[in-house]
Amino acid sequence: MVELAIDAAQEAGAYLRDNIGNIQHIERKGGEATNLVTEIDKQSEQIILRKIRQHYPDHDFLGEESGAHKISSPYRWIVDPLDGTVNYAHGVPIFAVSIAVEYNNELLLGVIYDPMRDELFTAERGKGAFLNGVRISVSRTSTLLESLLVTGFPYDVRKELDYHLRPFNEFLVKGQAIRRLGSAALDLAYVACGRFDGFWEGKLNPWDMAAGVLLVVEAGGRWTDYNGNSTTIYTPQMLATNGIIHDEMVNVLRTCFEDNHRS
Ligand code: IPD
Ligand code: CA
Ligand code: CA
Repeated sequence: MVELAIDAAQEAGAYLRDNIGNIQHIERKGGEATNLVTEIDKQSEQIILRKIRQHYPDHDFLGEESGAHKISSPYRWIVDPLDGTVNYAHGVPIFAVSIAVEYNNELLLGVIYDPMRDELFTAERGKGAFLNGVRISVSRTSTLLESLLVTGFPYDVRKELDYHLRPFNEFLVKGQAIRRLGSAALDLAYVACGRFDGFWEGKLNPWDMAAGVLLVVEAGGRWTDYNGNSTTIYTPQMLATNGIIHDEMVNVLRTCFEDNHRS
Protein backbone atom coordinates (compact mmCIF):
# COMPACT_ATOMS: atom_id res chain seq x y z
CA MET A 1 0.00 0.00 0.00
CA VAL A 2 2.89 2.41 0.73
CA GLU A 3 4.39 1.74 -2.68
CA LEU A 4 1.04 2.40 -4.33
CA ALA A 5 0.52 5.61 -2.32
CA ILE A 6 4.00 6.83 -3.34
CA ASP A 7 3.41 5.92 -6.96
CA ALA A 8 0.03 7.69 -7.02
CA ALA A 9 1.38 10.80 -5.25
CA GLN A 10 4.30 11.04 -7.69
CA GLU A 11 2.14 10.57 -10.75
CA ALA A 12 -0.41 13.15 -9.58
CA GLY A 13 2.44 15.46 -8.50
CA ALA A 14 4.07 15.29 -11.92
CA TYR A 15 0.71 16.14 -13.47
CA LEU A 16 0.41 19.18 -11.18
CA ARG A 17 3.95 20.32 -11.94
CA ASP A 18 3.45 19.96 -15.69
CA ASN A 19 0.22 21.94 -15.66
CA ILE A 20 1.06 24.88 -13.41
CA GLY A 21 0.12 28.01 -15.31
CA ASN A 22 -2.20 25.98 -17.53
CA ILE A 23 -5.49 26.37 -15.69
CA GLN A 24 -8.39 26.89 -18.10
CA HIS A 25 -11.27 27.09 -15.71
CA ILE A 26 -11.62 28.07 -12.05
CA GLU A 27 -14.81 27.39 -10.10
CA ARG A 28 -15.83 28.53 -6.61
CA LYS A 29 -17.09 25.94 -4.16
CA GLY A 30 -18.72 25.65 -0.74
CA GLY A 31 -20.44 29.02 -1.12
CA GLU A 32 -17.15 30.88 -0.55
CA ALA A 33 -15.83 33.21 -3.25
CA THR A 34 -12.26 32.41 -2.13
CA ASN A 35 -12.63 28.60 -2.18
CA LEU A 36 -11.29 27.63 -5.58
CA VAL A 37 -11.40 24.37 -7.44
CA THR A 38 -9.84 23.84 -10.84
CA GLU A 39 -10.03 21.03 -13.37
CA ILE A 40 -6.46 20.27 -12.24
CA ASP A 41 -7.61 19.40 -8.68
CA LYS A 42 -10.25 17.06 -10.11
CA GLN A 43 -7.94 15.43 -12.64
CA SER A 44 -5.25 14.88 -9.99
CA GLU A 45 -7.82 13.11 -7.79
CA GLN A 46 -8.89 10.92 -10.71
CA ILE A 47 -5.26 9.86 -11.32
CA ILE A 48 -5.00 8.77 -7.67
CA LEU A 49 -8.44 7.18 -7.46
CA ARG A 50 -7.86 5.17 -10.65
CA LYS A 51 -4.61 3.74 -9.29
CA ILE A 52 -6.16 2.79 -5.97
CA ARG A 53 -9.15 1.18 -7.69
CA GLN A 54 -6.85 -0.94 -9.89
CA HIS A 55 -5.25 -2.52 -6.84
CA TYR A 56 -7.80 -2.17 -4.07
CA PRO A 57 -11.29 -2.00 -5.62
CA ASP A 58 -12.92 -2.83 -2.28
CA HIS A 59 -11.27 -0.14 -0.12
CA ASP A 60 -13.16 2.95 1.08
CA PHE A 61 -12.05 6.30 -0.30
CA LEU A 62 -12.43 9.87 0.95
CA GLY A 63 -11.21 12.50 -1.48
CA GLU A 64 -11.61 16.26 -1.27
CA GLU A 65 -13.08 16.55 -4.75
CA SER A 66 -15.14 13.39 -5.16
CA GLY A 67 -16.20 12.92 -1.53
CA ALA A 68 -16.72 9.63 0.29
CA HIS A 69 -16.92 6.34 -1.61
CA LYS A 70 -18.11 3.90 1.03
CA ILE A 71 -17.71 0.19 0.44
CA SER A 72 -17.58 -0.66 4.17
CA SER A 73 -14.00 -1.83 4.13
CA PRO A 74 -11.86 -1.31 7.27
CA TYR A 75 -9.36 0.42 4.94
CA ARG A 76 -9.98 4.04 3.96
CA TRP A 77 -7.80 6.08 1.63
CA ILE A 78 -7.88 9.81 2.44
CA VAL A 79 -6.70 12.04 -0.36
CA ASP A 80 -6.05 15.72 -0.99
CA PRO A 81 -5.09 15.76 -4.68
CA LEU A 82 -3.79 19.33 -4.55
CA ASP A 83 -3.15 20.94 -1.19
CA GLY A 84 -2.37 24.58 -1.85
CA THR A 85 -4.90 25.33 -4.58
CA VAL A 86 -4.79 29.10 -4.08
CA ASN A 87 -0.99 29.09 -4.45
CA TYR A 88 -1.32 26.87 -7.51
CA ALA A 89 -3.90 29.12 -9.14
CA HIS A 90 -1.54 32.09 -8.69
CA GLY A 91 1.54 30.22 -9.90
CA VAL A 92 3.16 30.11 -6.44
CA PRO A 93 5.16 26.85 -6.39
CA ILE A 94 4.12 25.75 -2.89
CA PHE A 95 1.64 22.86 -3.01
CA ALA A 96 1.56 19.11 -2.49
CA VAL A 97 -0.34 15.87 -2.92
CA SER A 98 -1.40 14.17 0.31
CA ILE A 99 -2.44 10.51 0.59
CA ALA A 100 -3.12 8.54 3.79
CA VAL A 101 -4.62 5.17 4.65
CA GLU A 102 -6.62 4.37 7.77
CA TYR A 103 -7.41 0.90 9.04
CA ASN A 104 -10.40 0.83 11.41
CA ASN A 105 -10.01 4.59 11.92
CA GLU A 106 -6.32 4.33 12.82
CA LEU A 107 -3.78 5.94 10.53
CA LEU A 108 -1.55 3.33 8.92
CA LEU A 109 0.49 5.34 6.44
CA GLY A 110 0.90 8.84 5.08
CA VAL A 111 2.60 10.20 1.96
CA ILE A 112 3.06 13.87 1.05
CA TYR A 113 4.74 14.77 -2.22
CA ASP A 114 6.00 18.23 -3.17
CA PRO A 115 6.61 17.98 -6.92
CA MET A 116 8.36 21.36 -7.26
CA ARG A 117 11.15 20.37 -4.88
CA ASP A 118 10.87 16.62 -5.54
CA GLU A 119 10.45 16.06 -1.80
CA LEU A 120 8.67 12.88 -0.80
CA PHE A 121 7.61 12.60 2.85
CA THR A 122 6.53 9.13 4.00
CA ALA A 123 5.46 7.59 7.29
CA GLU A 124 4.14 4.23 8.40
CA ARG A 125 2.68 3.63 11.84
CA GLY A 126 5.43 2.50 14.20
CA LYS A 127 8.14 2.69 11.54
CA GLY A 128 9.20 6.34 11.63
CA ALA A 129 9.04 9.20 9.14
CA PHE A 130 11.26 9.81 6.12
CA LEU A 131 12.12 12.51 3.58
CA ASN A 132 13.30 11.01 0.28
CA GLY A 133 14.14 7.81 2.16
CA VAL A 134 16.18 9.47 4.93
CA ARG A 135 14.77 9.31 8.46
CA ILE A 136 13.51 12.67 9.79
CA SER A 137 12.70 13.97 13.23
CA VAL A 138 11.11 17.04 14.73
CA SER A 139 13.22 20.00 15.88
CA ARG A 140 14.78 20.33 19.32
CA THR A 141 13.82 23.99 19.75
CA SER A 142 12.99 24.33 23.42
CA THR A 143 11.13 27.61 23.82
CA LEU A 144 8.28 29.33 22.03
CA LEU A 145 10.35 32.47 21.73
CA GLU A 146 12.89 30.63 19.56
CA SER A 147 10.22 28.83 17.53
CA LEU A 148 9.36 29.30 13.88
CA LEU A 149 5.61 28.75 13.71
CA VAL A 150 3.23 28.23 10.82
CA THR A 151 -0.52 28.59 10.50
CA GLY A 152 -3.31 28.76 7.96
CA PHE A 153 -6.84 30.08 7.64
CA PRO A 154 -9.96 28.38 6.27
CA TYR A 155 -11.88 29.75 3.30
CA ASP A 156 -14.71 30.90 5.57
CA VAL A 157 -12.32 32.86 7.84
CA ARG A 158 -14.63 35.86 7.66
CA LYS A 159 -17.32 33.99 9.60
CA GLU A 160 -15.18 33.65 12.74
CA LEU A 161 -12.46 36.21 12.29
CA ASP A 162 -11.81 36.66 15.99
CA TYR A 163 -11.44 32.90 16.60
CA HIS A 164 -8.71 32.75 13.95
CA LEU A 165 -6.98 36.05 14.72
CA ARG A 166 -6.65 35.77 18.49
CA PRO A 167 -4.03 32.99 18.36
CA PHE A 168 -2.31 34.71 15.44
CA ASN A 169 -1.91 37.94 17.43
CA GLU A 170 -0.60 36.09 20.48
CA PHE A 171 1.87 33.85 18.65
CA LEU A 172 3.10 36.79 16.59
CA VAL A 173 4.53 38.37 19.70
CA LYS A 174 5.37 35.18 21.65
CA GLY A 175 7.15 33.18 18.96
CA GLN A 176 10.17 33.96 16.79
CA ALA A 177 8.11 34.40 13.60
CA ILE A 178 5.04 33.07 11.82
CA ARG A 179 4.78 31.76 8.27
CA ARG A 180 1.65 31.02 6.21
CA LEU A 181 2.63 28.62 3.42
CA GLY A 182 -0.87 27.91 2.11
CA SER A 183 -0.56 24.12 2.30
CA ALA A 184 -1.47 22.39 5.55
CA ALA A 185 0.09 19.15 4.30
CA LEU A 186 3.45 20.87 3.83
CA ASP A 187 3.06 22.74 7.14
CA LEU A 188 2.83 19.36 8.88
CA ALA A 189 5.58 17.75 6.81
CA TYR A 190 7.84 20.69 7.71
CA VAL A 191 7.09 20.24 11.43
CA ALA A 192 7.96 16.55 11.02
CA CYS A 193 11.37 17.32 9.50
CA GLY A 194 12.19 20.14 11.91
CA ARG A 195 11.89 23.15 9.58
CA PHE A 196 8.99 24.46 11.64
CA ASP A 197 8.62 24.00 15.39
CA GLY A 198 4.84 24.31 15.65
CA PHE A 199 1.70 24.51 13.50
CA TRP A 200 -1.80 25.49 14.55
CA GLU A 201 -4.93 25.97 12.48
CA GLY A 202 -8.53 26.42 13.61
CA LYS A 203 -10.46 24.56 10.94
CA LEU A 204 -9.01 21.79 8.79
CA ASN A 205 -10.53 18.88 6.91
CA PRO A 206 -9.42 15.23 7.26
CA TRP A 207 -7.70 15.24 3.85
CA ASP A 208 -5.61 18.32 4.79
CA MET A 209 -4.08 16.61 7.81
CA ALA A 210 -4.34 12.79 7.57
CA ALA A 211 -0.89 12.09 6.11
CA GLY A 212 0.76 15.02 7.89
CA VAL A 213 -0.25 14.14 11.43
CA LEU A 214 1.14 10.63 11.05
CA LEU A 215 4.40 12.17 9.80
CA VAL A 216 4.58 14.45 12.85
CA VAL A 217 3.85 11.69 15.33
CA GLU A 218 6.25 9.23 13.68
CA ALA A 219 8.93 11.94 13.65
CA GLY A 220 8.61 12.26 17.44
CA GLY A 221 6.25 15.25 17.60
CA ARG A 222 2.89 15.81 19.27
CA TRP A 223 -0.56 16.40 17.82
CA THR A 224 -3.61 17.51 19.86
CA ASP A 225 -6.50 19.96 19.79
CA TYR A 226 -6.07 23.51 21.16
CA ASN A 227 -6.65 22.24 24.73
CA GLY A 228 -3.86 19.68 24.52
CA ASN A 229 -6.33 16.77 24.33
CA SER A 230 -5.88 13.86 21.96
CA THR A 231 -7.91 14.33 18.82
CA THR A 232 -8.75 12.79 15.45
CA ILE A 233 -8.47 13.85 11.83
CA TYR A 234 -12.25 14.36 11.85
CA THR A 235 -11.91 17.20 14.39
CA PRO A 236 -11.07 20.53 12.72
CA GLN A 237 -8.75 22.06 15.38
CA MET A 238 -5.08 21.34 14.90
CA LEU A 239 -2.00 21.81 17.04
CA ALA A 240 1.14 19.93 15.98
CA THR A 241 4.58 20.64 17.41
CA ASN A 242 8.00 19.22 18.16
CA GLY A 243 6.51 18.16 21.52
CA ILE A 244 8.85 20.35 23.58
CA ILE A 245 6.98 23.62 22.97
CA HIS A 246 3.54 21.95 22.95
CA ASP A 247 2.45 22.89 26.46
CA GLU A 248 3.63 26.44 25.95
CA MET A 249 1.47 26.68 22.82
CA VAL A 250 -1.53 25.11 24.61
CA ASN A 251 -1.18 27.70 27.38
CA VAL A 252 -1.22 30.54 24.88
CA LEU A 253 -4.27 29.06 23.12
CA ARG A 254 -6.03 28.71 26.49
CA THR A 255 -5.48 32.37 27.31
CA CYS A 256 -6.89 33.29 23.89
CA PHE A 257 -10.18 31.60 24.71
CA GLU A 258 -10.40 32.09 28.48
CA ASP A 259 -13.76 33.77 28.10
CA ASN A 260 -14.95 30.57 26.38
CA HIS A 261 -15.18 32.19 23.01
CA ARG A 262 -15.07 29.11 20.71
CA SER A 263 -12.52 27.23 22.86
C1 IPD B 1 -6.09 24.52 2.17
C2 IPD B 1 -4.63 24.63 2.53
C3 IPD B 1 -4.40 25.84 3.43
C4 IPD B 1 -5.26 25.80 4.66
C5 IPD B 1 -6.71 25.65 4.30
C6 IPD B 1 -6.93 24.41 3.42
P1 IPD B 1 -6.59 23.39 -0.25
O1 IPD B 1 -6.31 23.35 1.38
O2 IPD B 1 -4.17 23.48 3.20
O3 IPD B 1 -3.06 25.93 3.86
O4 IPD B 1 -5.05 26.97 5.40
O5 IPD B 1 -7.43 25.51 5.51
O6 IPD B 1 -8.28 24.31 3.07
O7 IPD B 1 -7.94 24.01 -0.44
O8 IPD B 1 -5.50 24.18 -0.86
O9 IPD B 1 -6.58 21.94 -0.58
CA1 CA C 1 -6.28 20.94 1.46
CA1 CA D 1 -7.17 20.44 -2.09
